[in-house]
Amino acid sequence: MKTMKTLRLNIALMAFACSSVLAGDGVLDLTRPANYANQPVPAYIGRDNTTAGNAITDQGATLGRVLFHDRRLSRNDTVSCSSCHVQSHAFGDAPVASSGVNGTTGRHSMRLINARFANEVRFFWDERATTLENQTTQPVKDHVEMGFSGSGGDPAFADLVAKLSAIDEYRVLFAMTYGDAAITETRVQRALAQFVRSIQSFDSKYDIGRAQVAGDAVNFPNFTPQENAGKQLFLNPPPPPGGGPAGAGCAGCHAPPEFAIAPNSLNNGVITRIGGGTDLTNTRSPSLRDLLGPDGQTNGPFMHDGGFTTLAQVINHYNLIPGDNANLDNRLRRPGGVQSLNLTQQQKNDLAAFLATLTGSAVYTDAKWSDPFDAENRLSLIVLPADSVRITDHGNGTATVSCAAVPGMSYRLESCTNLKSWSTLATVTAGQDGFCQHLVAVSDTTFYRYAYEPPAP
Ligand code: HEC
Ligand code: HEC
Repeated sequence: MKTMKTLRLNIALMAFACSSVLAGDGVLDLTRPANYANQPVPAYIGRDNTTAGNAITDQGATLGRVLFHDRRLSRNDTVSCSSCHVQSHAFGDAPVASSGVNGTTGRHSMRLINARFANEVRFFWDERATTLENQTTQPVKDHVEMGFSGSGGDPAFADLVAKLSAIDEYRVLFAMTYGDAAITETRVQRALAQFVRSIQSFDSKYDIGRAQVAGDAVNFPNFTPQENAGKQLFLNPPPPPGGGPAGAGCAGCHAPPEFAIAPNSLNNGVITRIGGGTDLTNTRSPSLRDLLGPDGQTNGPFMHDGGFTTLAQVINHYNLIPGDNANLDNRLRRPGGVQSLNLTQQQKNDLAAFLATLTGSAVYTDAKWSDPFDAENRLSLIVLPADSVRITDHGNGTATVSCAAVPGMSYRLESCTNLKSWSTLATVTAGQDGFCQHLVAVSDTTFYRYAYEPPAP
């Protein structure tokens, strides 16, 4: 039997930056991407704002994950998206205002979980971004947040493109995702939007109950009597003008099972601006899922101004809307005045108990959404795993040299007889099955290896 010798080449690319806060293990195996594209979504979830032509792929969301956690997306390498959208806070932030490269934000950071499952396709508290794709580079180009504004002495987005184009990992990641290494704003937006849309949370107590019944109005078997009572208050419309038994009307704008905002909502009477003044433009809310973390603590203060630190304060706000304003939603108006629900303390507690059932768990810790960089802010990409070159002898004088690799990326198949002077035998593109394969003539004196170099800038 003929013996064929193999060698593998595992290229790990390294990049360095200066500071460190949060740390992952610093290694991303691109030959075995995490599952972003085919995550299970409960059958009762009906909304999906995925932009036509930008469905989540494992490759695109992986690139998005790296961009999301990379501080080099800010002008001085100190702020990443994840600085203000923290995984342990359901991708929201604890402070009222978050810190960017030039001061603090004008509004409170928003939790990003389940952004995909909102009927309202416009983003930000005031809905000024027309799509999630369009939203994702606005923080990069914001003078306060990440600083590539292109005005007032700030570098421009084109400078960020040049900066990223000089980084080996990005040449690999863009080539993996888009077939070539070119970096454009559109490509950055599409990858970031895929990553954000992939962040989903459907393992709450609410979901366990909802999966067992025909609809939201039915009592959930896994709920306490108090949680079921709170659910009913959330669902039922507020008292009619003449009074009478009713609910708190929350579902009128935050409908289950997504708990996203009604696209036609106007403001809810919270009109304070951080730092003073009035702001009537805030008509969007993140999903009411994961208001609290698994530990029962809030994932940051509530509303665009971060003005409420407890659910009790939120409920008291709706119990008696503080006053009318020109952009107050009609659902919160009453003839001659504003909504007054007259909830009892017991009802307020019930409502809060129900809101607490909307908290999931996996989203807070799942590695696929976590920071991939290590403590020194380095990232190594595995593009060819160790020990993965195989030779299959077909018994007819030919053999296949195969190797696990990143689908769609092109590798050099190299050979030599002396382990010194390697020459390129072929350029091989890995198939969607994640393997490079090439047919060679059987020889017991030849070594083979697959090699990869990121495309030139
Ligand atoms: C300095 C803090 C900060 C940074 C950095 C930051 N954000 Fe935000 N993010 C915010 C704040 C504050 C808001 C709400 C702003 C508003 O509505 O005016 C927000 C809103 C959003 C929203 C809208 C969510 C919704 O439901 O409407 C998305 C999506 C988002 N950010 C994604 C990102 C991405 C992607 C990045 C990185 C490219 C990023 N953010 C960087 C603070 C930040
Ligand atoms: C008329 C539509 C409407 C109704 C009804 C309504 N909300 Fe809201 N809700 C909003 C809007 C708009 C915002 C975002 C307001 C802002 O930050 O300025 C919001 C924000 C919130 C937030 C803050 C979310 C966050 O991420 O900070 C909570 C919590 C909330 N609502 C709970 C409730 C509850 C509980 C009820 C029922 C008692 C309710 N809402 C009824 C429109 C509504």
